[in-house]
Amino acid sequence: MTVSGREMSLRDAVAGRCAVRDFVAQMPDDALLDRLLQAAVRAPTAMHEEPWRFAVIRDRNLLNRISERAKALIAARAEGVPPDAAATFTAKEFHVFYNAPVLIVVGTEAPGRFADADCWLAAENLMLAAHAEGLGSCVIGLALDALNDADVKRAAGLPAGFTAVAPVIVGVPAHPAALRPTPRKPPQVVLRA
Ligand SMILES: Cc1cc2nc3c(=O)[nH]c(=O)nc-3n(C[C@H](O)[C@H](O)[C@H](O)COP(=O)(O)O)c2cc1C
Repeated sequence: MTVSGREMSLRDAVAGRCAVRDFVAQMPDDALLDRLLQAAVRAPTAMHEEPWRFAVIRDRNLLNRISERAKALIAARAEGVPPDAAATFTAKEFHVFYNAPVLIVVGTEAPGRFADADCWLAAENLMLAAHAEGLGSCVIGLALDALNDADVKRAAGLPAGFTAVAPVIVGVPAHPAALRPTPRKPPQVVLRA
């Protein structure tokens, strides 16, 4: 794995990755995005089905439209969302993609027993590769309903049979020096037999 030509160990990539929600406007180039997709498809895949498909969305107007639709759906289905979170997620200035330059939607046209698992594994590979390349990323689960909305799919040009599973924003972090991995509890082992 590389960061600006320097190698990053897998251990450092796993330990150092964190959600990034603040990006510079610069668009990662196509070759870089292709390397992320190549890393994604190295994920394990049940029955070797490779059910993942990728939508790479850079069109700002389209990202804005999907964000607005996501917010409208959050507002309409606010049950289960704490009131302060719902207020944050539906505020006028809130953008579900944090104005990231690129959204990569990992999804499938062949839903099945393990298709979601394959897509999530591909998404994690993609995010680790992004981190190793000096890019930031974040899963945007809040956008899932909007991305699977028939009107949004039609407007975006997504295949009608595509199901979004793991939406991931990607971009150059605005403040790379300030990024810190978030803490984790120690592994809770329920059995060592
Ligand atoms: C399934 C899933 C959905 C997520 N959805 C969102 C989201 O909609 N918006 C967001 O800002 N972060 C989202 N995140 C990112 C998490 O908030 C983040 O991974 C978590 O706080 C841990 O921080 P870290 O990734 O920096 O370790 C999501 C993460 C996962 C795994």
